[in-house]
Order: sequence, then C-alpha cells, then structure tokens
Amino acid sequence: MKTKIATLAANQQVTGLFGLRALTVKTSKKGMDYMELALCDSSGKIKGYLLDDVAEALESLEADSVVQVHAVIHLYNGVLEMKIQTIRPVREEEADIREFAPVVTGGVAPWKVKLLAILGLIRNSNCRRIVDAFTSDEVFMDRFVHAPAGLIEHHNYVGGLLEHTVNVMRHAAFLSKGNEALINRDLLLTGCFLHDIGKTKEIDGMLTLKYTMPGRLLGHTVLGASMLEERIKRIGPYPADLAMLFKHMILYHHVEAGVGSLVVPCTPEAITLHEADSTDAKINHLYCHLGESEENRLWSHYDGFLKTEILQRNSFGASLPYKSEAA
Ligand SMILES: [Fe+2]
Ligand SMILES: [Fe+2]
Repeated sequence: MKTKIATLAANQQVTGLFGLRALTVKTSKKGMDYMELALCDSSGKIKGYLLDDVAEALESLEADSVVQVHAVIHLYNGVLEMKIQTIRPVREEEADIREFAPVVTGGVAPWKVKLLAILGLIRNSNCRRIVDAFTSDEVFMDRFVHAPAGLIEHHNYVGGLLEHTVNVMRHAAFLSKGNEALINRDLLLTGCFLHDIGKTKEIDGMLTLKYTMPGRLLGHTVLGASMLEERIKRIGPYPADLAMLFKHMILYHHVEAGVGSLVVPCTPEAITLHEADSTDAKINHLYCHLGESEENRLWSHYDGFLKTEILQRNSFGASLPYKSEAA
C-alpha cells in the first residue's frame, strides 16, 4: 500500500513514490548547498530537504516527474517536512504521474454531485438552457471537474475549480437569502457557475501547473466570455439582455472599483458574485498557505495575495478553539 502524505507523522521513516513539483538548490547560513523539493501526492503536499549529494540529484531530477524517496519525517515549526536520505527519478513506465497530482479533499466525484445538486435549484428556463448546454457536454465537464482554479494562490489542485465553483455558489446563495427582492437567485447561481469556466483553457499541466498561451494573453475572464458566446450561438435564439448580464458577470468578477477600470461589477448579482468569489479564494488561500512560514514567527511574511501579514496560529492563541481542533 502506498504511503500517503496526509497520513505521515513526525519521526516516521518513509520509502515511497511521490510527485516532484519543483526543486531548488539553496545555500545554508553555513555556506552548504542543499536542495528544497516540493513533493506531492493525491492526498497533499510536503516540502523535502536533501543535504547530501545535491549536485548528483540536480543532474538526475526534474520537476513535473515522479521520484522514489527514502526519508525521515520531521516536525518543524508545526509543519511536517521530509529530511531526504536518498532520492531517485522514476521512469514514466514505472508510475502514472496523474496518480500523484494533489486532488480536492474527498475526490472529484462528491464535488460533482454537489455541483449538480446546487445547479438543480435553477428554475428559469433561459438560465437552465445555458447551464444544460455546458453540463451536457462530456468533454467540457471532464475538463471542468478536473481543472485547478489557480497556479499558486488558491485551489491549485485537481478538482480545485469544481470545489471553488460550488463554494462560490453556496456563498452567493447564502448572501442572496433575505434579499430576494433585489437579487435574482437563478441569474446569480448561473453567473457563479459560469464565472471561471475560462480557467479550463487558462491553466494546463499535471504537477507543475502553468498558464497556456491564451491564458497568458487573454486571461480566464475573456476566455470564459467567448466560451459563453460560442455556446449561446449553438443553442439558438437567446435573449440578448440576459446574455449580456452573464458576460458582465464573467468579464468583471475580479474588477475592484476605484482602480482605474471603466467597468466594475454593477448589477446586484455581479456584485454578490464578486464578493462570494473573493471570499472563497481568500479562505482557500489561507488553507493552502497557513503554516508555511519558515521560522518560529508570530506573523507570516507579507502575503502578496491577501496584501497583509497573517497571524500564525501555531505561534499565538494557545487558548483559541481552533488550536485543539488543528492538533
Ligand atoms: Fe476568476
Ligand atoms: Fe473564481
């Protein structure tokens, strides 16, 4: 049975296959070269450190591959890491790299069930036509349910886009509660479903995610809007005003007022989507990056995504309820 990263414990000896996402050679304060490796499997990620035979390892290892590792697990500053004793590359025919990509908690299947359940709440026939046009397309859905929603900052794993979309729809539905006179829930939920579909064409890769050329040059909002346009053409006559509202929600869901943009989210549904999207991205970012600080710090390094330093819960708040839950 394979040793999974999520089951590793401090002081454990481990020998097994892992995905190698990235490797960097660094120099210690004592002037010694060491290698820092970003390892992963379907259950999670872990950092590994190789102190010996660094030059040989650099020759033989490459990112976005599978490696066999013999290591001891250490707990450092509340975070598990691997002290690697030996490491070797694994040939393509020995292991399927797709099995080592980090995947959404619980796997893709239950999240797809959640997505279809919340989409089932949409009753308006023109909203349904758009939703059905995408969900009935097996090629699109296969890509959509497996795609990540980001490279680094949030939901950067298989099923990340699916999880993010479900969460945004849930947050948005919650925000719309009690505001039915202002916010049309069918319009809102459909827009939430559509808002990041362009990410299926923006990001590519298996362990090491990267932007596609259309992703770099156009971005997922423009790609998503053109995917919607194509789909509407295929399903026949469609109300132009509704199509425009969906395009507005897709194109401007990231835009903040007051930063020079001529267009900002300007319908109740687009504003609600913007807030739900931002909240979910930030929460997932905290899940992915909390505890990554290198030293025993009370505050994290400046976080460019959140534009602040984050209070490190491993270093503060012994009496706080999340302390015991996280242990
Ligand atoms: Fe987005
Ligand atoms: Fe999003």
